[in-house]
Amino acid sequence: MAALRTQVGIIGAGPAGLLLSHLLHLTGIDSIVIESQTRQHVEERIRAGVLEQGTVDLLIEAGVGDRLEREGLVHHGVWLRFAGRSHHIDLTGLTGGKSITVYSQHEVVKDLIAARLSAGGQILFGAAEASVHDIDGTRPTICFRRDGAEHELACDFIAGCDGFHGVSRTSIPSGVLSAYERIYPFAWLGILAEAPPASDELIYARHERGFALFSMRSPKLTRLYLQCAPDEDIANWPDDRIWQELHARLEDQGGWRLAEGPVLQKGVTGMRSFVVEPMQHGRLFLAGDAAHIVPPTGAKGLNLAVADIRVLARAFAEFYAGEGTERLERYSETCLRRVWKVQRFSWWMTSMLHRFAEHDDFQRHMQLAELDYVAGSRAAATALAENYVGLPMEPAGL
Ligand code: FAD
Ligand code: DHB
Repeated sequence: MAALRTQVGIIGAGPAGLLLSHLLHLTGIDSIVIESQTRQHVEERIRAGVLEQGTVDLLIEAGVGDRLEREGLVHHGVWLRFAGRSHHIDLTGLTGGKSITVYSQHEVVKDLIAARLSAGGQILFGAAEASVHDIDGTRPTICFRRDGAEHELACDFIAGCDGFHGVSRTSIPSGVLSAYERIYPFAWLGILAEAPPASDELIYARHERGFALFSMRSPKLTRLYLQCAPDEDIANWPDDRIWQELHARLEDQGGWRLAEGPVLQKGVTGMRSFVVEPMQHGRLFLAGDAAHIVPPTGAKGLNLAVADIRVLARAFAEFYAGEGTERLERYSETCLRRVWKVQRFSWWMTSMLHRFAEHDDFQRHMQLAELDYVAGSRAAATALAENYVGLPMEPAGL
């Protein structure tokens, strides 16, 4: 068995694990990242696309924002579309100058991998059967198999950044964690199309046929989503049917028309809200999707992972600077305050915009009244905008 040693062992080379490794490096802390997939797989995995202002600021401050600043599309507003009409939410005007940036998650991942590797960082791709040991002691280890050999990585701490289906959360002894979950009775069918975006800004549409979302990835690529059945078989959705449904749900009475193009990629994503408390046990710290999942309607999953990492990196920096364990001990409490607020926003956006089969006419009127209120009230629109661009990071004292 090959023996390895580092200060922080990180499981998962998604945005959470890679950003943590990079931020630790900036403060002189050593880490090794263990990833089950290949580099190509993680660099091509199409997922989220909207970065909050605070996420963008952090990536730039950390020196990994050059391409993001060049290629990211800065948006100052979003559209709500319902009852055949469109209503603009002026994100920048309502939040004292903040905005969001459209830049693919897999581009963030590419930038972070490039930064780690050029700084001599270790990311061990293709590491199978990872398992976590001795998290209750002071020398936890991660065991895994790679290139046909067994490896043991000894660490001071382990960061479980291995997403919802990873091994970290399930390694915590039973009875320690409380899990809170809601599974929604629908999913999203998403496509990436080679078509110039027909709107400069995102459109969230509530329609009697179900929710639809217009987004983009670049001046040549449109990203679109449709509410569908939770167990939808993608084979039932030839491209023609997808376009027909998107036209029906997204186009308004004002004459706006969606531009079509070849479909480059399509897939179905389930919708759930999930949180575990606490996000830490012994020397194992959970971050990102390993600890919580939000339904995608608020575009928060990636941003919430980044917010956890900001807190965790700072807590490790304090520990290794000899300033104690207070921040590490408060990691879970600090993160969860934000996690629950972001859960609330994502649940609210999801509830307001989707078609629920079990809703009666009264509930449908409540949904429309809520949207009309947000569209017509500066106070309500401000509440949406401040959540959408990203709540402030926790006050410095925490
Ligand atoms: P991940 O990105 O999941 O990274 C975890 C990493 O750990 C992966 O690279 C995985 O391969 C690795 N791993 C897992 N198990 C192991 C193991 N046992 N050993 C070693 N490595 C392991 N959010 C939005 O806001 N908008 C969206 O449109 C959106 N779309 C999404 C579409 C899909 C299909 C999915 C799955 C998620 C989507 N999300 C979206 C959520 C967002 O992408 C996540 O919140 C974000 O990826 C969280 O980052 P993470 O680093 O915590 O986890
Ligand atoms: C995108 C995804 C989201 O979940 C969202 O709310 C907005 C945009 C996207 O993939 O572009």
